[in-house]
Amino acid sequence: MRTQVGIVGAGPAGLMLSHLLHLEGIASVVLEARSRAEIESTIRAGVLEQGTVDLLERTGVGARMRREGAVHHGINLRFDGRTHRIDLRGLTGGRSIMLYAQHEVIKDLVEARLEAGGEIHFQVEAVRVEGITGTTPRIRFREQDREREIDCAFVAGCDGFHGVCRPLIPQAARRELQHVYPFGWFGILASAPPSSAELIYARHERGFALVSTRSPQIQRLYFQCDPDDDESRWTDARIWQELHARLENLEGWRLTEGPILQKGIVALRSFMVEPMQHGRLFLAGDAAHIVPATGAKGLNLAVADVLVLSRALAAFFASGGSELLEGYSATCLRRAWRAQRFSRWMTALTHRDEADDAFTRQLQLAELEYLTSSRAASTALAENYVGLPME
Ligand code: FAD
Ligand code: PHB
Repeated sequence: MRTQVGIVGAGPAGLMLSHLLHLEGIASVVLEARSRAEIESTIRAGVLEQGTVDLLERTGVGARMRREGAVHHGINLRFDGRTHRIDLRGLTGGRSIMLYAQHEVIKDLVEARLEAGGEIHFQVEAVRVEGITGTTPRIRFREQDREREIDCAFVAGCDGFHGVCRPLIPQAARRELQHVYPFGWFGILASAPPSSAELIYARHERGFALVSTRSPQIQRLYFQCDPDDDESRWTDARIWQELHARLENLEGWRLTEGPILQKGIVALRSFMVEPMQHGRLFLAGDAAHIVPATGAKGLNLAVADVLVLSRALAAFFASGGSELLEGYSATCLRRAWRAQRFSRWMTALTHRDEADDAFTRQLQLAELEYLTSSRAASTALAENYVGLPME
């Protein structure tokens, strides 16, 4: 097999890259370790930045999102017994966010690729990439007990944090920076009507909690927990009790309950690799960077990376010019570092760190007070939350 761009991983990064390349007339093959059913049902992100929404619509994969997703024009910060709304739209000159589940984006992209004759190989095993410093890298893999290989002009490593591509950059040529937080997020999906028209980020003495949504019938809720906690220790009754305690029943507001459909714990982590490219291997999305979920940036960064990469590859295949490819890493890292900064700040603003003294906790409240009473400070939050302009 031969193709122009071999893509490892069918997450948002890999699928969107394949879609964007197709629109540029560039052929690609996507290799995915999991089954189609699995990638189309894994519960992950839910918040799409305005730029991500615009790109999905502009490239013809936004119709179902427009019908079934929910546009939110604001978010709420809850602390010290009060709730403050941040008017995203008003503070950013009309920009908002879309609540639409990551696995729905995946379904739309898989369908668009297959309809256009795109090649996605699911359940491939033992993916190995060779020759990235030459001009014809080769990807070897096993598919239904057959050994196969693809020769390509470029390889896109879109295989997430635990993938095989990042370690292909020699250790001497890469720098990895990371910060592990002493927090996890306990996330649930509940079959219940929404409690709130917009997201609620709550800072509470017992720890952070977040009210999000997936649809008028399904709600997504999170609360800060020990990253090493065991989810089986949490009965449904105890989960609701903890969420009620942290979200409080303020001014007649009450969290709606319903059967818990799914639960799980994720650790919060910040991670960066520099550079995001080596020879003809280009990393995109979680393969290159992880942000703590508080800023809701991970999926959006993955999409921003592959937009830059698709343009650089299009310029190369059109004219042989490699200037944009050479700038790929620096361009993407600039955005990723800003997302790191914002996500860490949102995390520090809202989480309870047992290592903090009473003075530091009081400062956290002072920061929230300032943020919600100053238009300048609220604007800084809003413009980062809806997403900085794409390059
Ligand atoms: P992934 O989605 O991880 O996709 C990588 C793919 O590569 C996977 O399908 C994997 O099976 C495949 N793969 C791995 N290794 C191989 C191999 N060797 N061969 C072939 N295939 C391979 N982000 C937001 O923007 N907003 C949010 O609200 C948000 N909330 C989140 C909530 C949770 C609980 C979690 C866990 C994450 C959240 N994120 C959020 C982050 C977001 O989900 C990720 O940043 C996003 O999935 C990154 O996409 P990706 O394509 O880079 O990687
Ligand atoms: C989600 O809906 O899954 C979600 C929302 C906001 C975040 C993180 C996750 O900051």
